[in-house]
Amino acid sequence: MRRFFWLVFAGTLLAVSLLGWRGLKSRKPPVELFPRSIFPGMETQRKVKEQKPSAFFSDGRAARPPVAGTVPVEEPVKEEYFSTGVIGDRWGDGIPVPVDRKLLERGRERYTIYCQVCHGAAGYGDGIATQYGLVGPANYHVDRLRQMPDGEIFHTITKGRGLMLGYGANLPIEDRWAIVAYLRVLQKSQFTRWDELSPEEQKLLKEKP
Ligand code: HEC
Repeated sequence: MRRFFWLVFAGTLLAVSLLGWRGLKSRKPPVELFPRSIFPGMETQRKVKEQKPSAFFSDGRAARPPVAGTVPVEEPVKEEYFSTGVIGDRWGDGIPVPVDRKLLERGRERYTIYCQVCHGAAGYGDGIATQYGLVGPANYHVDRLRQMPDGEIFHTITKGRGLMLGYGANLPIEDRWAIVAYLRVLQKSQFTRWDELSPEEQKLLKEKP
């Protein structure tokens, strides 16, 4: 009988000591079961605290400014359409930077580096990666993509779409527009309607044997 009593007593003590303090809050530092030299806990490790000076750096600042030349992952929004491809609640159309030879050459170069592996040199969605099992890069020479607003293409480059990752962190905004402009060139190079040609161009084509 006495043994039973002690068993119940020990059991109760164990239950209370393990479960009894659940939910209790304390401002005291946590109990450390092991010496810090063996198990340094995150509470007590040496670290920089917010809004506190640091003795480690000569200028005393704990929060370090970014290293010179650091590339921001997200560029600050300058002008809504320029930065996002969106105007209000719809896609905008048009290239918001001057389109000249320089921009198109830049676009060609960036396209070759970043897009060609999947979409192919002419944009038929037949890049080298498709020979290694990648399925489904878009073919730019379909009506849906011919009619797609520039802003939506810009957005696809920035954020990606389906299997395609976004390239916003790799390509500055200006380069993304350069690629959009070059993508339009690719589309025109493969498909241009007769009535979009100037009379001189039509004449030239008719003269060709
Ligand atoms: C790793 C392969 C890969 C790379 C690199 C890549 N894409 Fe894509 N892209 C895809 C795939 C796959 C799709 C189809 C996504 C879907 O519809 O699910 C696609 C779709 C698209 C579309 C059509 C989106 C739509 O709304 O249907 C556009 C436009 C496009 N890519 C442009 C680009 C541009 C510009 C680049 C270079 C900056 C690029 N892609 C780089 C794989 C790639």
